[in-house]
Amino acid sequence: MSFLFVTCQAGAEVPLKAEIARRYRGFRFAFSRPGFVTFKIPDDIRRDRQFDLKSVFARTWGFSIDKVSGTDGHELARSVWSVLTERYPSETLAEFRNIHVWERDRYLPGDNDFEPGVSPLAEEVAELLLETAPESQREPGLQLNEIAAPEDRVLDVVLVEPGEWWFGWHRAGSIQSTWPGGVPFIDVPDEIVSRTYLKMAEALQWSELPLEKGDACVEIGSAPGGSCQALLERGMTVTGVDPADMHESLLANPYFTHLRARAKNLKRRMFSDFRWLMSDASAVPNYTLDSVEAIIEHKSSKVDGLLLTLKLTDWNAAEHIPDFTKRVRSWGYAYVRARQLAHNRREFCLAASGRIPGKPGGPSKQGGKAG
Ligand SMILES: C[S@@+](CC[C@H](N)C(=O)[O-])C[C@H]1O[C@@H](n2cnc3c(N)ncnc32)[C@H](O)[C@@H]1O
Repeated sequence: MSFLFVTCQAGAEVPLKAEIARRYRGFRFAFSRPGFVTFKIPDDIRRDRQFDLKSVFARTWGFSIDKVSGTDGHELARSVWSVLTERYPSETLAEFRNIHVWERDRYLPGDNDFEPGVSPLAEEVAELLLETAPESQREPGLQLNEIAAPEDRVLDVVLVEPGEWWFGWHRAGSIQSTWPGGVPFIDVPDEIVSRTYLKMAEALQWSELPLEKGDACVEIGSAPGGSCQALLERGMTVTGVDPADMHESLLANPYFTHLRARAKNLKRRMFSDFRWLMSDASAVPNYTLDSVEAIIEHKSSKVDGLLLTLKLTDWNAAEHIPDFTKRVRSWGYAYVRARQLAHNRREFCLAASGRIPGKPGGPSKQGGKAG
């Protein structure tokens, strides 16, 4: 019997389960706690070395090996290794160059000062695992909670409770699967305008959009300005569109322009110079997509890529995510992906790039809607 565990935002278990049921017919839901869900899976999935879970709500995943419970951290760590050494030959164990340890989320990111990432407890547990690792395991230089290289096999230890550790493994494939617990490392400056700085920093890392210094970006729904701050720090020229006030530090930045308006009230040609379009407007997804479509379908548009935060007013809206991605693809973007980022709240990020000339909505299309 094989099991797969998934970690997700606390509260996102329901849309996660629905998504997995839709995409993976052979998977059966087995167990869940907030932020942690397991599924019984067909054995051939586990044997498929190229398997990667495709899911908007899975922050990361692993093939489950076992769990250990108790109150003494040293003992728990030793138990993990004794299960592993019993179950796997040393050559297989030697393939694990990385150990990723993290706690499941207990709060919505941003609530109770909680931000996802490797917690002090997770760091401590990682150290215990290193201390108690068999000599053969330490020789090749085990990496603790570092970014794995593509194709690396990663040993995952999820602290479902402080005294209940579930462990398993995954092969690093997608960029998010190289990050401990599926959360990127972000260099956070001393002062951030708002926590949306983290959202934008993560969106840029995850989407790997090829932004270059000096590129012109526009953000719809930009106030007070955390995400614009992240873009400015990366050398972009940024325009924020929002009827609300921007933080004074942005207004003082010569590379920032504030257009105090709702996106729909601006002439479409005002967007003609932007290479990248971001949106974080507090609006339902279809309203945001209508606004963005009107901009990028205009004949003057040169928007190469999009990073859209789409709000989930309720979890039922998650079932329309495939329709949202299909709609964005119909604008001529070759790569359209969606993910609930670790720093997202009740929302997800949609990234689009590779606009194909000649495709509906592509840059070479003649005509278009007047603005
Ligand atoms: C979540 S906040 C944006 C946070 C911002 N991205 C940041 O980094 O600080 C949502 C913003 O969307 C703005 N908004 C809502 N509808 C809008 C629209 N149609 N056009 C522009 N801004 C809009 C609101 O005024 C609000 O400031």
